[in-house]
Amino acid sequence: MQSSIDLTRLPRSVRLGRDADGRAELTYLDERLLPGEECFCSTGSWRCIVDAIKTLAVRGAPAIGAAGAAAVALWAVNEGARGAVLHGCSEAGESFLGALGPVAAEISAARPTAVNLMWATARMESLAKRLVAEGAAPGEVADSLFDEVLRIEREDEKVNRAIGAAGAALVPEHARILTHCNAGSLATVFFGTALGVVYAAAEQDKVERVFADETRPVGQGARLTSWELSRAGVPVTVICDNMAASLMGKGMVDFVVVGADRITANGDVANKIGTYGVAVLAHHHSIPFYVAAPASTFDVSLPDGSAIPIEERDPSEVLPQPIDGVDVYNPAFDVTPAELISGIITEFGVFPPQDAAREVAARVG
Ligand code: MRU
Repeated sequence: MQSSIDLTRLPRSVRLGRDADGRAELTYLDERLLPGEECFCSTGSWRCIVDAIKTLAVRGAPAIGAAGAAAVALWAVNEGARGAVLHGCSEAGESFLGALGPVAAEISAARPTAVNLMWATARMESLAKRLVAEGAAPGEVADSLFDEVLRIEREDEKVNRAIGAAGAALVPEHARILTHCNAGSLATVFFGTALGVVYAAAEQDKVERVFADETRPVGQGARLTSWELSRAGVPVTVICDNMAASLMGKGMVDFVVVGADRITANGDVANKIGTYGVAVLAHHHSIPFYVAAPASTFDVSLPDGSAIPIEERDPSEVLPQPIDGVDVYNPAFDVTPAELISGIITEFGVFPPQDAAREVAARVG
């Protein structure tokens, strides 16, 4: 292993816990302030988590999912259960569920593209419904929802390490890897998906260097990917997004790996704006282009990428100083068609994009 690799220095983006009074609270690393400031915030308010997701303090599909689940638990423990007991025993469960519905809907509407958020809030809501149906009291349901978030956090790291191991086997020796946006430890609870592949390959001494697209307009590559890779001791070079073509043209890229926000039944992939362009370039230069993502990022209810809701964000991200008469187009994600993808790396292994959703569904059961 390269002596400089130290994965114990990887950041953890979110962590659910309890304060001294037993109230549930989520501690998260405010990624808007990175790399200049490493600021951990703690809150017991589910609305603050919704705001943290909307403003990209917490971002990255799996991290958004874990934070969304935590927001449900914060409501349940700090508000929902306390409110429901005011009703008679028999109605308490139903009133708890009645109040949970709109809260879960508001949480899962925080951002539209990353399906992990809807996956996480649906998982929490269906658990609550099952427990109430089994006669559990609101307080018991709230504690179970709290524990479910801890389960989601543990699963996240386990899944990412499995994705890393499966992907590292694809990485050639002395690899010069290009990645777009940040699909690292900061975009998950811990370890990362696409960067999980990089970390696992680096542990096998296979990584010569990572080229990180700066990823305009928010700079997840320049600010976040470069920061966490350098912290872990992985050599990294930041490039402007428009430099990827010439880098590939010069034969300086051997492998591309990116993350995903939603993968449809046919294998089309939504990821950070600019990913589609990188896929077209990789295809033109015959460079392997892989997507790394957990089962929770698959959405088999959508037949193909044309159905994926694409978030449009504030123009000020692109043009901080508005210019009279000038419009701005700012979609946060784009869709890469399956035919441009060499394979999808999941916790269950690597699959051709056209087969990935079916293969994963068969294993998730
Ligand atoms: O807008 P962001 O920063 O949330 O976009 C993040 C991405 O596009 C990531 O590549 C994706 O969510 C995968 S994270 C493992």
